[in-house]
Amino acid sequence: MSGAQITVFVPGDASACSVGADATARALEAEAAKRGRSVRIVRNGSRGLFWLEPLVEVVTRAGRVAYGPVKSGDVAKLLDSGMLEGGAHALRLGDIATHPFLASQQRLTGERLGVVDPASLDDYLVHGGYAGLTAALAMQPAEIVRTITDSGLRGRGGAAFPTGIKWQTVHDQAAAQKYIACNADEGDSGTFSDRMLMEGDPFSLIEGMTIAAIAVGATQGYIYLRVEYPHAARALARALAAARARGYLGNDICGSGKRFDIAVRLGAGAYICGEETSMLESLEGRRGEVRVRPPLPAIKGLFGQPTVVNNVVTLCSVPIVLARGAEFYKDFGVGRSRGTIPLQLAGNVKHGGLVERAFGLTVRELVYGYGGGSASGRPVRAVQIGGPLGAYLPESDFDTPLEYEALAARQALLGHGGVVVFDDRVDMARMARYALEFCAVESCGKCTPCRIGSTRGVELLDRIIAARGATNGHAASPGADVALLDELCDTMFNGSLCGLGGMTPFPVRSALKHFSEDFVRTKLTDGPGSGSPRAASRTPAG
Ligand SMILES: Cc1cc2nc3c(=O)[nH]c(=O)nc-3n(C[C@H](O)[C@H](O)[C@H](O)COP(=O)(O)O)c2cc1C
Ligand code: SF4
Repeated sequence: MSGAQITVFVPGDASACSVGADATARALEAEAAKRGRSVRIVRNGSRGLFWLEPLVEVVTRAGRVAYGPVKSGDVAKLLDSGMLEGGAHALRLGDIATHPFLASQQRLTGERLGVVDPASLDDYLVHGGYAGLTAALAMQPAEIVRTITDSGLRGRGGAAFPTGIKWQTVHDQAAAQKYIACNADEGDSGTFSDRMLMEGDPFSLIEGMTIAAIAVGATQGYIYLRVEYPHAARALARALAAARARGYLGNDICGSGKRFDIAVRLGAGAYICGEETSMLESLEGRRGEVRVRPPLPAIKGLFGQPTVVNNVVTLCSVPIVLARGAEFYKDFGVGRSRGTIPLQLAGNVKHGGLVERAFGLTVRELVYGYGGGSASGRPVRAVQIGGPLGAYLPESDFDTPLEYEALAARQALLGHGGVVVFDDRVDMARMARYALEFCAVESCGKCTPCRIGSTRGVELLDRIIAARGATNGHAASPGADVALLDELCDTMFNGSLCGLGGMTPFPVRSALKHFSEDFVRTKLTDGPGSGSPRAASRTPAG
């Protein structure tokens, strides 16, 4: 081997691996060996610029130099061009932190994504890791809870409930056993921020859960992870073992005498198991079915004990609040939406990926500024925000700020921050049908408006869609069926036990309201790339 060892980052997360990062890493190793060069390959997480994956970074004297997308077949020529010294090449991107997609972001929760080696606790510490826990250990539990309350942090799983109030409730319960249950089910279409955090910065979730445990007096934590996330399962297993070995988990956390440990449980991938009470049922080993509330999980949760249920992004935001203070965090955002939100851009969009910004960025800035418009090059007609239960917004609403209250005022929701883009070929009557079909397939079956209503809704949409073409030259009027559909939405909204049945009316009604023409005329331009349910898959890359 000649010369000093060179460190090369090749993402090893699901998004990069789905487009060949493993083969790229193997080719790099082989080509470097052929040339007698000593190379250390670090499998980092993706930085969230998915169209540039596999995005390879070489550590040079001048800093990290990025190249992308690097396929295995590109590697030999890149090495010939002096890539290991940061040499010129058509795929050279320079310092990726200065790329416009990243440079204008405000990465707090995702600040270490793509930067650190997710397998290395030392690297986590070098990049500010465990500063939040250190601060928390110097505080009384009630003070930690107050700091979270003061920061304005609200749950990022979808319901946007104030995290501090939830923690306070669990803190105030007198119980011998309390739990922290991390909701890592991430079932929403077009979302991947939980996955990226667990794969690219797993210690931040462990730290966030540990702080939560100390604040409320819990000694055991569970991460409820969907089985479709094997990369995250591996990254978490590695990180948990390292944290345990170094005393960040176990019977005496950092010498404080406090006890806390975390176990990962794999769920089979039912959408309803993301709903917190179904998740608790599943964690207890039963079929995922919604529990009637009250009692709230904070009072009677896992195994009947007080339980904090929080989303991955919520928990990964906690260390920042403790390390930098409530005021620092609260300074970001607008109105009652404080801090930053990792927005996930997917579907028919040119530049899909992760955009973390303070609340208040507009849909237009996200879709055109970051996303570059549709991947097909055709006009963007609609976006669906907040997963399969989120409303469709038309172009005329694209100046809406991405924050909880502004979206609620438009009968829309931000949910987990997924934004799926559709071009002008999308058939919105079919998208409304898809929402109801999704509800019918994923319903836990416990209440009638959802179990029966969703199936009746699919039948109504089938009739409306069939009626569109069946005219003698005039547009068909679906009148009575549309009125019935609206009434059905009322019943589901008001009568369902949980958000699955209760919120399915959002996509259906928004499609009816903003795209009513699609319910009376057949779309002639439907075709690939229109942003069909297939295009709205969970990750743009995979
Ligand atoms: C049908 C349905 C599915 C849900 N799926 C998820 C999910 O995948 N992940 C998640 O964190 N929250 C999900 N939620 C929200 C949870 O019920 C709960 O509000 C959340 O986990 C609480 O954590 P947070 O306060 O940190 O957001 C879902 C809710 C509903 C009604
Ligand atoms: S709304 Fe649907 S998913 Fe929710 S409890 Fe009722 S049947 Fe189950």
